[in-house]
Amino acid sequence: MGGVIAAAAGVPAALYLLVKPKNKNSGEWVEVAELDQLRAGQPEEIVYNRKRTDGWRRVDEKTSTWLVRTETDAVIAYNPACTHLGCAYHWDAVGNAGAGQFECPCHGSAFSMEGKVIAGPAPRPLDRYLARIDGGKVLINPETRSV
Ligand code: FES
Repeated sequence: MGGVIAAAAGVPAALYLLVKPKNKNSGEWVEVAELDQLRAGQPEEIVYNRKRTDGWRRVDEKTSTWLVRTETDAVIAYNPACTHLGCAYHWDAVGNAGAGQFECPCHGSAFSMEGKVIAGPAPRPLDRYLARIDGGKVLINPETRSV
């Protein structure tokens, strides 16, 4: 009887310790926009849906990214959270003496279009996602950071 009880408690515990949670997110690319819908030098916030694995659960979620199309038709994708404490920031086209800047409403941080800190207290530039263009579509990998 003791062996049965030990097995009933021990097998799930052993599986919990030995079976790794699923992490299918790394490497998943998500189509978020058509390149033609972006204008060079005009950041645009894109809302998209993605599937994310959270431990053993698969979650559908709506999230966003800021995309910047460069003059050379490359695309930069930013994490939409401020690098200070994670507030959502926005684009102000007339800030930074007309050059435009990302502004965080929480504590006043400002970032250039290239993501560099213009005004604190943000401790580092905006976080970037890996981004690529494939057949005129913009794809990002929101699980990976680019520098
Ligand atoms: Fe953006 Fe504090 S969270 S400045």
